[in-house]
Amino acid sequence: MIKVEGLTKRYNRFPAVQNIDFEVPKGRIVGFLGPNGAGKTTTMRILTCFLPPTSGTATVAGFDVLKQPMEVKKRIGYLPESPPVYPEMEVHEYLSFVGRLKGIPSSSLAQRVREVSERCNVADVSKKLIAKLSKGYRQRVGLAQAIIHNPDVLILDEPTAGLDPKQIHETRDLIRSLAGEHTIILSTHILPEVEQTCDEVVIITRGQVVARDSVRNLTSRLRGQEAIALEAHPGSARDESALESALRGVPGVSTLTRRAARSGTVHFEIESEPGVHVRGALARAVIESGWELEELRAVAVSLEEVFLELTSTESAPAPTQEAAQ
Ligand SMILES: Nc1ncnc2c1ncn2[C@@H]1O[C@H](COP(=O)(O)OP(=O)(O)O)[C@@H](O)[C@H]1O
Ligand SMILES: [Mg+2]
Repeated sequence: MIKVEGLTKRYNRFPAVQNIDFEVPKGRIVGFLGPNGAGKTTTMRILTCFLPPTSGTATVAGFDVLKQPMEVKKRIGYLPESPPVYPEMEVHEYLSFVGRLKGIPSSSLAQRVREVSERCNVADVSKKLIAKLSKGYRQRVGLAQAIIHNPDVLILDEPTAGLDPKQIHETRDLIRSLAGEHTIILSTHILPEVEQTCDEVVIITRGQVVARDSVRNLTSRLRGQEAIALEAHPGSARDESALESALRGVPGVSTLTRRAARSGTVHFEIESEPGVHVRGALARAVIESGWELEELRAVAVSLEEVFLELTSTESAPAPTQEAAQ
């Protein structure tokens, strides 16, 4: 449904987006994940024909954003970073206004405004001035205007930015409910957003795509490298080096680091190879070495760490296999 090939955008000489490729199949919801300044908004503005690319191509439903912008715009609903709402209008007036702009016949306009207002949970504020709405409501009015002409594709730029946790939850549910009917790209700099909302993820940093995969593969790939904290208490045995070498000998253990421990116990931090479950074998190794297992637990979220590593400014990562395909 969306195809981006060799897309580059320079602002003067500054390359905001450099030679990126990705595709979004029909009906999918894809997260465009990257830190601030990565080039997400720039890419979305190109896809929505607000900004011409410097080179490369982007097509929506087979129509080229440069050559057939009218065809592209008909098929796209866009929610920019700040919703394009007019504070001095009432919600229903604004939605009717957008609906007319998007070519909805006046005979069906009122009906369509009601439908999208219900769909986006803004029907109860339809007679309110947009200026008086909370940020969450305003964002949902922004979504309502994006879907009013029932476009095939939705492009949502940081749709939950600035919302409180309850509003974030509601907005994510709404977006999920729109997937299937619509092909969706949403940008975010928040990893859990992608995990909770999207099927696939494109990670972008400094204008380049560094990973492209299904959320499931990405999370299992990254989660596979989990870190484990292990604490043991000397039972009959006292030989710490024997314990340490027994733990090192567990198949799948990639690194083992001794940590400072409470008195009377030893504490290790252990990382496993991706996809290998070592906890059971570690527990056995402790017992068989004559120690008592005090604690064995996963250390918090390496997915976040790997995301940070992929997108950190110090390392310039080579594209992953998926990105290079
Ligand atoms: N109109 C502009 N003129 C010059 N530089 C810009 C302009 N818009 C964005 N940039 C720069 O391009 C890079 C990518 O910006 P943007 O696409 O907004 O990133 P993101 O949405 O991922 O935060 C940033 O370094 C930003 O400063
Ligand atoms: Mg942005």
